[in-house]
Amino acid sequence: MRSSGQNQKPHAVCIPLPAQGHINPMLNLAKLLHHKGFHITFVHTEFNYKRILLESSDHESINSSSSFRFETIPDGLISSDAVSTTQDLTELCVSTQKNFSAPFRSLLDRIQSTENIPAVSCIVSDGLMSFTIDAAEQLGIPHVLFYTLTAMTVLCFFQYYPQIIERRISPPKDDGYLRREFMEQTIDWIPGIGSIRLGDIPTPIWATNSDDPILNFIIDQCSSTIVNRSSAVLIHTIDALEPQALTSLSSIFNRIYTIGPLSLLAKQISPDTGIEKLRSNLWRNDSDCIEWLDFREPASVIYVNFGSTTVMTSRQFEEFAWGLANSMKNFLWIVRPDLVISDDVVPLPLRPEYLFQIKDRGKIVTWCDQVLVLEHPAIGSFLTHCGWNSIFESLSFGVPMLCWPFFGDQQTNRMCCCKKWGVGIEIEEDVKREEIERIVKEVMEGEKGKEIKRKAMEWKREIQKAVNQNGGSSYLNLDKLIEEVLLCGN
Ligand code: UDX
Repeated sequence: MRSSGQNQKPHAVCIPLPAQGHINPMLNLAKLLHHKGFHITFVHTEFNYKRILLESSDHESINSSSSFRFETIPDGLISSDAVSTTQDLTELCVSTQKNFSAPFRSLLDRIQSTENIPAVSCIVSDGLMSFTIDAAEQLGIPHVLFYTLTAMTVLCFFQYYPQIIERRISPPKDDGYLRREFMEQTIDWIPGIGSIRLGDIPTPIWATNSDDPILNFIIDQCSSTIVNRSSAVLIHTIDALEPQALTSLSSIFNRIYTIGPLSLLAKQISPDTGIEKLRSNLWRNDSDCIEWLDFREPASVIYVNFGSTTVMTSRQFEEFAWGLANSMKNFLWIVRPDLVISDDVVPLPLRPEYLFQIKDRGKIVTWCDQVLVLEHPAIGSFLTHCGWNSIFESLSFGVPMLCWPFFGDQQTNRMCCCKKWGVGIEIEEDVKREEIERIVKEVMEGEKGKEIKRKAMEWKREIQKAVNQNGGSSYLNLDKLIEEVLLCGN
């Protein structure tokens, strides 16, 4: 039997899509809820939790005693034994739909029958894991869908994707020229978006047939009938960045809250429980890079990071490597072990001739604490794959960007950065070393660089307003979400 005292504590079960870019904002949200008095169960896949434990020792000690507990469910993938590489995102998404529901229900049943743990009182789930709504309905508790993406991307998912099949929109299959022509076409019928290039809509606009698994995954997840069974929708953004898209979304969803950037909000939690130190890195941080930055002049370093899922060919990799080297600027480059699709035993930037050429101007590591890096005064700009967390974190510290998107929402984020918010410069998809050299010099010392830095600083100020503990919109919205939704089942 549970004591009445324990019963009174609200208990949120937080379940992210099991990929780094979704786990990080969910973990930060969970820390904030914990800080507001919630007991937290955070659900990882077994595969990811194994990797996280390899990189950090914090989790076990906290699990044994505290009100912030980690639990795991299997991901249903056969490849789950090789813990060193990024999982295939398509397989993972399809598997969440097919295989996660039953173990998630069993986990909830187990938690509900465990003594000394408060009864689960709400579920906060990734927006792309709507199967969790069934569980909340069965338990009769509030449920929140959390989109770790921009409002613009969510709007494209809901308003554009169903049309891909209905209007038979698909790019020509093999012809590069015709594909480029297709991507240049604009449409103007998504409410709240205005005119947009097809190439700026989140992939799989690139899908050449209606059986594409990711296309169908998104269409299944992003149906307003399903989503409006959830108590509320939370979007990782701030109103000032995308007012029209949010207005348009408010006609689809019953209740929307905007909160962000979660990395900044979580950083402000007072360090009293150790929870604020929790990390969820799938790779080991190289803390040396902060010391390396300490010895660099202010705004003298270009930071290069392609996130957790981007891969590139060895040719693209070489073009980046020589472009950076030839720019003669300082750079910190994060090269995940699985970034390059290559048979080379030693990738170029780790070969002696390259290291000799860059001397101490460049530092190459496999993973870093990105938020610490971006707030470091030595960072002058960020060459990014345009993952939403990366962009939001970069804007938080007023760092201008060079944009080379890979897939998913990144094309849309690139467009927002370069065209709407004025904080980025585009890099051609077919990357060339001469272009990288030119564009790196431009962002670090050219007129365009100064202009986008000024805009980035304006957005930084806007973000600081949102995360102000006295009346900032993100704090107010967090409190509203708790009072109006999460505590409503109690
Ligand atoms: C994925 C998608 O690619 C992205 O477009 C989507 O918006 C979220 O899911 P990912 O590719 O990993 O994410 O990019 P991003 O959104 O930038 O998230 C990466 C996260 O890992 C960020 O929070 C970043 O701070 C962190 N990170 C990344 C590190 O802490 N260290 C690193 O070296 C690299």
